[in-house]
Amino acid sequence: MTQTIQAVAFDAYGTLFDVHSVATLAEQLFPGRGAELSKTWRQKQLEYSWLRTMSARYKPFGEITRDALRYSARALGVVLDVAAEDRLMSQYASLSAFPENLGALRALREAGLPLAILTNGTPEMVDISVKSAGMQGFFDRVLSAESVRCYKTQPEVYSLATAAYACRPDEIVFVSSNAWDAVAATWFGFDTFWVNRSGAPAEELDTAPCATGHLLSDVVDYVRTRRERPRGERARRRS
Ligand code: LAC
Repeated sequence: MTQTIQAVAFDAYGTLFDVHSVATLAEQLFPGRGAELSKTWRQKQLEYSWLRTMSARYKPFGEITRDALRYSARALGVVLDVAAEDRLMSQYASLSAFPENLGALRALREAGLPLAILTNGTPEMVDISVKSAGMQGFFDRVLSAESVRCYKTQPEVYSLATAAYACRPDEIVFVSSNAWDAVAATWFGFDTFWVNRSGAPAEELDTAPCATGHLLSDVVDYVRTRRERPRGERARRRS
């Protein structure tokens, strides 16, 4: 069975968009607590996405992000007034790209590959971030969990990409900086690349992403190698 790459799909937050500016603002608002607040906020945002999906209680990503922020402030014992909450939330609308990202996306486009964003974020949130990160024109599709009213790691979310490109899961290269997302996408059957920017430990989930690197630019080499030597061919050679 031949295997070609039909598209490269990217997770959004932490993978394409650098959420560091959120921590910087949190530190300005709550000196000495910024890093802890933004870490708790992100973790709680993910927990709410998993919990609401498990219990069929969907709520849009912007709203669970706000809920997670309120919880995190309470957990840290800091006073989050309306102005601070709005400033932190609107920071999500002005995220920047990681330094190597634009070059990596350009190289993948020049290689003739369709690029997509496959994210928990709503289309509105993602469109604003695409503009603020200077990524207009790179993506031909934004595939949002909102259309299936559940979040990763539900297979319905990953299947938005196979439906959009009318292909098999192993014909999509899926790129995420979240190890759990890369593992779950591997369960789904995608060809996966984990961008481990922070040197995080691998998950203990009995499955590893198909490949790992440190930067988005590592994906360019991976895709090039995969096109030269598809996975099916490698398997045939081994057998
Ligand atoms: C996303 C989150 C998981 O973009 O980073 O889907």
